[in-house]
Parts: sequence; structure tokens; C-alpha cells
Amino acid sequence: MIYITGDTHGAFDIHKINPDEFIPGQTMTNKDYVIICGDFGCIWDGGSNDAFWLKWLSSLPWNVLFIDGNHENFDVLDSYPVVDWHNGKAHRIRHNIYHLMRGEIYSIDGHSFFVFGGGYSHDFELREEKKTWWKEEMPTQEEFVNAQKNLEKVNYQVDYVLSHDIFSSHPLSQKYKIQMNHYGKEYLNIQTILETIRQKLQYMCWFHGHYHVDEITYIDNKPCITLFDRVLLLDELENEMKTLKKSLK
Ligand SMILES: [Fe+2]
Repeated sequence: MIYITGDTHGAFDIHKINPDEFIPGQTMTNKDYVIICGDFGCIWDGGSNDAFWLKWLSSLPWNVLFIDGNHENFDVLDSYPVVDWHNGKAHRIRHNIYHLMRGEIYSIDGHSFFVFGGGYSHDFELREEKKTWWKEEMPTQEEFVNAQKNLEKVNYQVDYVLSHDIFSSHPLSQKYKIQMNHYGKEYLNIQTILETIRQKLQYMCWFHGHYHVDEITYIDNKPCITLFDRVLLLDELENEMKTLKKSLK
């Protein structure tokens, strides 16, 4: 079984996947997965706080997968080994915890997932570089090229897409105006990259986090699900979609 949810932000919002609250988590096994759509937040201080949460997550019998958002310590994240995992490259954090990397395509439980993390911190002025904010929250040309190369191999056709921020034709992308001038020249606007990919890609449903709401939006008649508190069961997606608030677009 695969469950998908939104930002966990370390201690702040991880309760939603705690089996005390997330009842399916009481009986899930090592064949089951919970995917977090960015802002995992358990790789943040690189110290005892992270160790506490990673120890707890690694004690769970099921797998925790996350993509990166704009609330990760990219220096620590990049220190983990890159391994081959389910047809793609991933950072192995613990035996049951993996970071799904930008531009990779994974085959999980019979489904293909294209993954592209990263997101814009609208509050970057309140944060401190290398302590609470990293330029790496934005993608590089190299990561975009990696995505294109992998997508060409599957003829730009996957089952699902996982991102943190969202493509520029989605109404939520307008919530914060992206300023690129405090990133280096090598960094690209995440929303533009996702839009470029979206226009070529065939997929069934797009999942993302970042905006801290649970709702569904149809773009070109395709569902795009914004997740925060909800933990959706992929096998029941049709029914789960009926329970989500429709955005006004
Ligand atoms: Fe967040």
C-alpha cells in the first residue's frame, strides 16, 4: 500500500503519520509506504533533534519516503549516500527511510512516480543562510537536465507526479511572488521548470505539498492534489478525490 501526505515539518506536523493518529500505520508492513511531499523537516539541525525523529521513524515497520521541500537542511541531506532504489537514485537515510531525488522516476508497488522536489521560501528574509535557509531549495540546470533525460527514457509518460512547489499554471503558484535575485545564476525558477515538464508529460495525477491546504484542482482536466493534513491511500484514489475540497479555479 502507498499513502501520500503533505509537509511534516519535523516535530510540528509529523503527528499525521504517527500510528496513534494514522490508524493504517498500526498494521502496515515493510511492503507499505508513506510518501511525504516535501518539508520533511526531520533533517534540519543535523543533530539530536533529527536523530530523535529518524530513530522513531526507523522503528516503524513500514517505509517512509520523502521528497525535498524548502524546509530541509540540504548540506546534511546531501551527506547521505546515493543508492539505486526502485529504478531511480535516492538518498538512503535509514533502512526504511529514503529521500526521493529531483528528476528521478521510481517504480513503487507497480506504479511509476516522477519526482521533482524543491520550493520557494517566501520568508527567506527571516531566515539565515546555511542555518535555516539553503539556495538548493531551487533546482539547478543540471537537475532539470537529469529530469529530461529520465523522462525521455519513458517517453514522458508516468503514472504519478510528486512535487513540493507547483507548476506556474496552477492558481496556488501565484500565492507568493518568486524573487530569483538572491539565488545564484545556476538556479532556476522551480515553478517554471515544473510547468515546462507538465506541458510535455502524460500522467494520471499530480501530488504536491507546500501550500498547507488539502484540496483538488483540475488543470487541463487532470487532477492536481494539494496535500497537507490528509494522508491519502493511492489504491483508493478515486474515492479519496471525492472527499477533497475543490479549488475555485
Ligand atoms: Fe511547508
